[in-house]
Amino acid sequence: MIPDKAPKEDVFHGSDDLKKEAHISSFEKYKELYMKSVESPGEFWGDIAKDFFWKTKHTGQFLDYNFDVTRGEIFVKCMDGASTNISYNLLDRNVHERKLGDKVAFYWEGNEPGDELTVTYRELLQRVCQFANVLKSQGVKKGDRVSIYMPMVVELVVAMLACARIGAVHSIVFAGFSAESLCERIMDSQCSLLITADGFYRGDKLINLKLLADEALQKCRDKGFPMQKCIMLKHLSKEAEDTSLDSQSPPAKRPCPGLQVPWNPDVDLCWLSLTRGASDECEPEWCDSEDPLFILYTSGSTGKPKGVLHTVSGYMLYTATTFKLVFDYQPDDVYWCTADIGWITGHSYITYGPLANGATSVLFEGLPTYPDVSRMWEIVDKYLVTKFYTAPTAIRLLMKYGREPVQKFKRESLKVLGTVGEPINPEAWQWYYNVVGERRCPVVDTFWQTETGGHVLTPLPAATPMKPGSATFPFFGVVPAILNESGEELEGPSEGYLVFKRPWPGVMRTVFGNHQRFETIYFKKFPGYYVTGDGCRRDKDGYYWITGRIDDMLNVSGHLLSTAEVESALVEHEAVAEAAVVGRPHPVKGESLYCFVTLNDGLTFNRTLEAELKKQVREKIGAIATPDFIQNAPGLPKTRSGKIMRRVLRKIACGERDLGDISTLADSSVVEQLFQNRCGAAV
Ligand code: WT7
Repeated sequence: MIPDKAPKEDVFHGSDDLKKEAHISSFEKYKELYMKSVESPGEFWGDIAKDFFWKTKHTGQFLDYNFDVTRGEIFVKCMDGASTNISYNLLDRNVHERKLGDKVAFYWEGNEPGDELTVTYRELLQRVCQFANVLKSQGVKKGDRVSIYMPMVVELVVAMLACARIGAVHSIVFAGFSAESLCERIMDSQCSLLITADGFYRGDKLINLKLLADEALQKCRDKGFPMQKCIMLKHLSKEAEDTSLDSQSPPAKRPCPGLQVPWNPDVDLCWLSLTRGASDECEPEWCDSEDPLFILYTSGSTGKPKGVLHTVSGYMLYTATTFKLVFDYQPDDVYWCTADIGWITGHSYITYGPLANGATSVLFEGLPTYPDVSRMWEIVDKYLVTKFYTAPTAIRLLMKYGREPVQKFKRESLKVLGTVGEPINPEAWQWYYNVVGERRCPVVDTFWQTETGGHVLTPLPAATPMKPGSATFPFFGVVPAILNESGEELEGPSEGYLVFKRPWPGVMRTVFGNHQRFETIYFKKFPGYYVTGDGCRRDKDGYYWITGRIDDMLNVSGHLLSTAEVESALVEHEAVAEAAVVGRPHPVKGESLYCFVTLNDGLTFNRTLEAELKKQVREKIGAIATPDFIQNAPGLPKTRSGKIMRRVLRKIACGERDLGDISTLADSSVVEQLFQNRCGAAV
């Protein structure tokens, strides 16, 4: 339940200026609308849907669903029977109906300061149509899956919206993932085409992306999945004559020694040559509300990534509405989300949500620390950013350098600050609020998941008094509950499993190709509820506080990794017999990976092996999964039935001696041995 009145003590508020123009200007207004959204969701979302274009109207109930596995198959349908096109709503509607053709959609800011571009809504529409025609000419049809493995360039947005325009399903793989991860995702979603780029810079590090893409395609072929087509954008290797309007990335500001661009004429196609002759008009494919829009892989606790599937209409309404209300979007805003489009944050809050509102955004290719740790604030001042959205890990990273790099820049334009990805520690929250926002800007701590499509627990900047570290209250239409281990709903102040009692338009619809896995992961444990996998506490004022994952998942720099996935990468090494991975608190990344490995008989653990194992995990999964610690573990703490006691390993990793009840351990002598071999200081 939402309290009638907001608490007055120990809370923070945004400035009064913000309240004047805000969409939701008080807690009372939030509460009133919240009640409407849960009592009559059809009416609530139906009003919002009026702002969008529908080729045909929906027929049945606005939101139809079953969330209870004991009653049959789980399903969610929003505006079933209606037809629309999301790229039409994001682009044509803004250009033609709302007359925003000349408005800037993106200020692209490259990795190198000075590399920049401006793209208007009209230009974006033209480029999306052109590329949609390219995809069609390559035989891509409605329902086909297209894999996208690209850096943060405008063409990434063009590629995803071109897919959406023709009803193809994009599957974006973060460009920091390894060739192995890309191969696994291409095969799982049975993609018919890959879109990539030659390479890009992350800070001063060159990433040979095409090389990785080729390696992935070779792996696919070896595994019996021959992918026939790969479109490559020349981002770094562009020739001088390519700087015409239709090639919007500028030539690299410096030479690229070490750039390798392998080319296979049987498979590879050049983005620019294909686009040159293509028409910039393309009639959208009218899709059903429940047609798939995209697949995005997220780690699963069993190790195999799951292809989270989102569909057209519900996702569109939900990302558009959360963007508008959570950032209190106003037409003159310049909004900047620092996430990569390869993650859900970028899908929902760089591409779909902002464009649906006709917003102007910054699209940033680089890093917060390159060329120096002032880069973010320099960009804020350069574009006069008003709404800024980043991750706690980035805040903690910048905190280490003190106030000076922040205060070198004015930041006067900032109005709302946001965070996402993991619980934000109150100290980082305070720094963000006091130093970055100068106590003027509310901090919206947005809790959500790849699966939820958009924010589900979040403050509204002018309405919700904030408590540092709390994601506060549910968004409209979202009904949370806290359950105990036996599945009973807890009332009032309590702590337990965070679940949701009913769907909202943006919730995922299935795991691609495996509906049963979808039901098992999210709906089996507590029938009747969507289970988030997060622990949560509710305080006396009704505020929700996420306490972290309760399954075998780790949160490294705001991204989920499964322990099983890392363990399986480790045991693939010939020296390793068994591996167990746990999270160890890390001052910047939130959690880091601490791995215990048992070697095969007769082998000894040394630095070379340690380096090899780190490299192996990095190559299998990607840099984000690189272990911080690998410890030799001649034995692992197990129960008599052979189950590894991770709880004990977590304590060992932290150097905490208080192990709790270990009476179920089969052999308690391994524990002492593990303490003696520990790596790193206690935390
Ligand atoms: C998990 C989802 C949603 C985009 C980024 C990550 C954690 C996310 C918060 C927050 C506390 C948070 C949860 C969640 N998480 N935001 N504001 N406070 N925890 O997407 O990779 O699907 O991860 O991130 O543990 O379940 P994801």
